[in-house]
Amino acid sequence: MNAESAVAELAEPYLRGLLSSAGLDVEYVRAEGNTLYRRGEDGRETPVLDYASGYGSLIFGHNHPEIVARAGELLAGRTPVHAQFSSHPYANRLAAELNRIIHRELGTGEPYYATFANSGAEAVEAAVKHAELDRVLRLAETMAEIAAGAEEARTAVLDGRAVVLGEVFARLGVERPSGSGDPLELVIAEMTRVNGEQSAKAPVFLALEGGFHGKLIGSVQLTHNEAYRAPFTALGARARFVPQDRPDALRDALKEVLEDERGTLLQLVLEDGEVRLVERDHSVFCAFLLEPIQGEGGIRPLSWEAARHIQEFVDTAECPLVIDEIQSGMGRTGALLASSHLGLRGDYYTLAKSLGGGLAKASVMLVREARYRTQFELVHSSTFAKDSFSCHIALKVLELLEADGGRAYRQAAERGAALETMLEKVRSAFPDVVKAVRGMGLMLGFEFHDQSQAEDEAIREAACSGMFGYVIAGHLLNGHAIRTFPTASAVNTLRFEPSVLLTDGEIDRLERALTDVCGILREQASNRLVLSS
Ligand code: F0G
Repeated sequence: MNAESAVAELAEPYLRGLLSSAGLDVEYVRAEGNTLYRRGEDGRETPVLDYASGYGSLIFGHNHPEIVARAGELLAGRTPVHAQFSSHPYANRLAAELNRIIHRELGTGEPYYATFANSGAEAVEAAVKHAELDRVLRLAETMAEIAAGAEEARTAVLDGRAVVLGEVFARLGVERPSGSGDPLELVIAEMTRVNGEQSAKAPVFLALEGGFHGKLIGSVQLTHNEAYRAPFTALGARARFVPQDRPDALRDALKEVLEDERGTLLQLVLEDGEVRLVERDHSVFCAFLLEPIQGEGGIRPLSWEAARHIQEFVDTAECPLVIDEIQSGMGRTGALLASSHLGLRGDYYTLAKSLGGGLAKASVMLVREARYRTQFELVHSSTFAKDSFSCHIALKVLELLEADGGRAYRQAAERGAALETMLEKVRSAFPDVVKAVRGMGLMLGFEFHDQSQAEDEAIREAACSGMFGYVIAGHLLNGHAIRTFPTASAVNTLRFEPSVLLTDGEIDRLERALTDVCGILREQASNRLVLSS
């Protein structure tokens, strides 16, 4: 027993056990391009073809030479990683470059202001916090308008320039006062009470069934998987989930939500010497979050039709749209924003994963100028955010994406199409085993039919325990030196998210491996599964 194995497992030991049960508890010692190197029992390094790619974090692969060289320059130049609370020109340059590309893709010139963070969920938290700050401030502005209107009406009535219509007292259920007292005193008190109740309503978030936005306190309540959410419901925001893949059901659900959640505030208006009471909409919607292509939920692209229903809803309900591009963005589908293919216009965007070039941990929340609240800058921050190292690395990533007129975007689209063609070829050869191939560009999913009724006991048990996808991943790793995983909330779907460096040879290798897997499943031959090296 070596010294390391003698140490008690103190970093998520249970998870390590689960990995081990599927033959996935492998140590990797080196990585470059689409290859990770595992340490074999004999201590030698053996290459593994990586299709998991950091869950979509490696659009340019592991340790891309130009990104590593940039990192080396920064460290050799002693870049001031910790220079908080100062001028961060590199962060501004990064925000400006993101804006330039977004403006090109969306055909807009409206600035998007950047709040940097360190992980995807942090960027989502920033979007949620900013959206709530904006909602609360908008509500305060409305209430101030209503109060000013009430004062104006009261003054006009006391000056004898206006009369209060009987319907005002009837609607509020208060008596018209007799004598010379303030005729609006009870009216304004009751109106203020009613508006107070309305404005105290908790904010409502909308998200899509199957969606994933992170596992921090705010983001986890917007993530559909009940197992992630349930233990923490008391801590977080209230989300309503609507269908992602059935446009008609989505349309109907959004209509229902609008009716259920629309709030109204009461307001006194003075017109032609008369004081009337009117109702005005009060939006309790804080934000609608969506992924243009759901990642963790099973690689599910949003349809054009569903996108139209959502855009119409957010415009009608004045509900900010947060487009979470943390996995689908950064060129993976042939554009910086996968949502630009859907004609969606976000109020907010979140980006992470590949923004850090596979070396830095960087994320960003972008909010359009029309919604931006500068007060947010004073109430939200992070020690490591917008640091010089991650900003410079992210600038390098954008430089690589934009080089040669966007060659990397075209590569992502072309390589993704080649990979998808192969996956579809395997599916059509095994329609009894493979249910679907989904996705776009280099964000593809390969879904197996449910095996919970399988003849083969080991396959059936793996499926019933939720480990099926992981057992298949273990066989791909140990039997074919190919690494990937199922999408954690849709475990019958394997995720394929390689870098733009993907070669035809690497696609061929995966084809052979998947053909082997499908043969094992067709023949129900679990004895052929290789779960250890
Ligand atoms: N939003 C999306 C769309 C994601 O795919 C992820 C992470 C997050 C937010 C959270 O980012 O992990 O950096 O905090 N997706 C990983 C996955 C976990 O399995 O696809 P994080």
